Amino acid sequence: MQASPRFWNRLAERYERTPIADEEAYRRKLAATQARFHTQMQVLELGCGTGSTAILHAPFVGHLHAVDFSERMIGIAREKAAAAGVANLSFEVADVDTFAPPAEGYDAVLALSLLHLVDDRAALLSRMHGWLKPGGLLVTSTACLGDWLRLMRLVGPLGERLGLLPRVRVFTGEELADSIRAAGFRIEENWRPGKRAAVFIIGRKSP
Ligand SMILES: C[S@@+](CC[C@H](N)C(=O)[O-])C[C@H]1O[C@@H](n2cnc3c(N)ncnc32)[C@H](O)[C@@H]1O
Repeated sequence: MQASPRFWNRLAERYERTPIADEEAYRRKLAATQARFHTQMQVLELGCGTGSTAILHAPFVGHLHAVDFSERMIGIAREKAAAAGVANLSFEVADVDTFAPPAEGYDAVLALSLLHLVDDRAALLSRMHGWLKPGGLLVTSTACLGDWLRLMRLVGPLGERLGLLPRVRVFTGEELADSIRAAGFRIEENWRPGKRAAVFIIGRKSP
């Protein structure tokens, strides 16, 4: 069964109001990403949610296209980008499984809090690798519950059926890094701010 946007549509307003759990780690991830950006870059963000990170990154790149399958998330993102007066940012309602990239490809692809939500991580990573130009950048932040909450494998499906949780795939940080390497990326940064925190990985496609 395909993951559905229903859970995220319901959550969108609350998600927007929820403060970032670890502001210092978030700032460090932004800085590590922006240090690799330049103002000619064409960037894609998958699963952009309400667009907060896209809005912060846009001034550092040529253009950022942000995609999410939740109409409500994208609705909020569009309003925020318009209010912020960010011109080089576009949004699209699309599922990452069916998203059709432009033929010229991207200089960077971002997947922040997304890879644990997709059914086939290896297939998505391989598609992202294909969408990148040579030397292109992959930026990910991923919940790796397999390292500390293996129980989620059992309770996750029940939570999903009750509408309390999105579908979450359970894997370890090592399994995540292995899948990123297997898709063809060289890992430049692999950082976990705390035992239970999301794993932040920056990968690079060979030039
Ligand atoms: C945990 S939120 C992360 C949002 C944002 N990237 C952030 O870091 O705050 C996950 C987002 O991914 C989106 N999403 C999940 N599965 C998706 C899919 N198959 N295609 C497109 N978007 C998806 C959800 O709608 C949600 O907005």
